[in-house]
Amino acid sequence: MHNSKKIEIIGIENIPLIKEGDDISNIILDNIERNELRLDNGDIIVIAQIIISKSLGDIRDLNLINPSKDALRIYQKIKEKTEGEDLPIKEPELIQAILDESKKLIKSSHILITETKHGFICANAGIDKSNVGEGNVISLLPADPDKEADKIRKAIKQKTNKDITVIISDSFGRPFRVGSVGVAIGVSGIAPLLDKRGATDLFKKELKTTIIGQIDNLASAAQLLMGESDEGIPAVLIKGYSYNTVENVSINSILREPIKDLFRSNKEDLIKEVLKNRRSYKLPFQERIVNIETIKKCIKISRWAPSAHNGQFWRYIILKRGEVRKNLIDKMNDKMREDLQRDNRSQQFIEKNINKTRESFLKAPLLVLLCLDKSDLQEYSDAERSRNEYLLGIQSISTCATYFLLSLESKGLAGSWYCAPLFARKEVREVLNLPRDFDPIAFITVGYPKKEPKTPKRKKLDDIIFKIE
Ligand SMILES: Cc1cc2nc3c(=O)[nH]c(=O)nc-3n(C[C@H](O)[C@H](O)[C@H](O)COP(=O)(O)O)c2cc1C
Repeated sequence: MHNSKKIEIIGIENIPLIKEGDDISNIILDNIERNELRLDNGDIIVIAQIIISKSLGDIRDLNLINPSKDALRIYQKIKEKTEGEDLPIKEPELIQAILDESKKLIKSSHILITETKHGFICANAGIDKSNVGEGNVISLLPADPDKEADKIRKAIKQKTNKDITVIISDSFGRPFRVGSVGVAIGVSGIAPLLDKRGATDLFKKELKTTIIGQIDNLASAAQLLMGESDEGIPAVLIKGYSYNTVENVSINSILREPIKDLFRSNKEDLIKEVLKNRRSYKLPFQERIVNIETIKKCIKISRWAPSAHNGQFWRYIILKRGEVRKNLIDKMNDKMREDLQRDNRSQQFIEKNINKTRESFLKAPLLVLLCLDKSDLQEYSDAERSRNEYLLGIQSISTCATYFLLSLESKGLAGSWYCAPLFARKEVREVLNLPRDFDPIAFITVGYPKKEPKTPKRKKLDDIIFKIE
């Protein structure tokens, strides 16, 4: 392979409007001839996806699509989000078509970013409305663009005996940069990536990480001639690009594995981040109201905590600021005072202890009391099993409290768990007039954090893991 210094990019003009069943290789060869062009070994033909889709009949009439509940829900969401902004709103039928072509919805805004069945992450699952035809019609991406590229390459080889490369291209927008560019979505004859690792730079330094997306570069070069509107050049001939012919290539090699994708949230990193970032927040909160609906959402997530025999014994009592809360804290503190006096603690010690949490309990925008509903516990005929059942009830409350704290963290809220209600169960029950079976277990303060709390140290792994052979 020699490195040429000149690359030619030639639009194949006058390609007619493509219909279902048309033979793209014949049409391209006819027009190469009609345009008085020559096909040589090593040439590259870049073909716009739209004509492949049309020839395959991958065209849909939106009037014949029935939007599902999901599509209607997304439509409503986008409509509300873009209210008042001058943005096009997709009709539910189009949203349905996009969902049908996707395996995963990544982001929904005025455009939908999805992962297509092929694994491409792009806007609207690659569905086009422009240059498709008259009426309410859309074009879908071909199901297997590599296969289509291969078919055309082999047909051209058979008809001309020339070894060429075929790239099927589309234009994709990019994260972090405005403007769409040509990208390859299917390929035959050339390696998608040009691995430069091991080569040297101008200063003889070895390249350690350089891998060039050569088929995207070629698609992008062809895009300069194809345009996006009414240029009518859906196929481009590239001459003079040096490459080695490679068989059995696939666009898949250019798709980044999700695990190596720094920008797609991977489960492990996400969970680690939420788990590590959660802190018991005991500092003053912002004077910002916490919406009850937000707390409900956190509770909704917390319900997925494990509980013994799926008993879900947890009950959440949300206390807003006000007289009831103040009265409750006063009564609990009276009880604490009595307890500590009985322990012969000094007045100073008692007041210090009370004041340690009093402000947090009174000033937290919301205070959540977690109760164990004993009516959901199983009954046993002996005391030991009944005690164990009670314990597993308490353990289950701990799991939901943990989930609740994590869900607060995920919403940018903060809070801390306090065991105070355990020490004044009778008082809490009385002030709040709780049902007889509700056992008060914990308080969780909730609010928006003002400062960064310190991170308490964790024990070393060796101190907490023991292996037994
Ligand atoms: C069962 C339980 C009871 C707790 N009770 C209190 C409490 O009464 N007062 C308090 O200040 N913190 C309380 N905490 C919070 C702990 O102090 C906190 O979780 C611990 O210091 C570790 O800090 P971190 O949560 O930021 O990692 C409690 C935590 C748990 C799990």
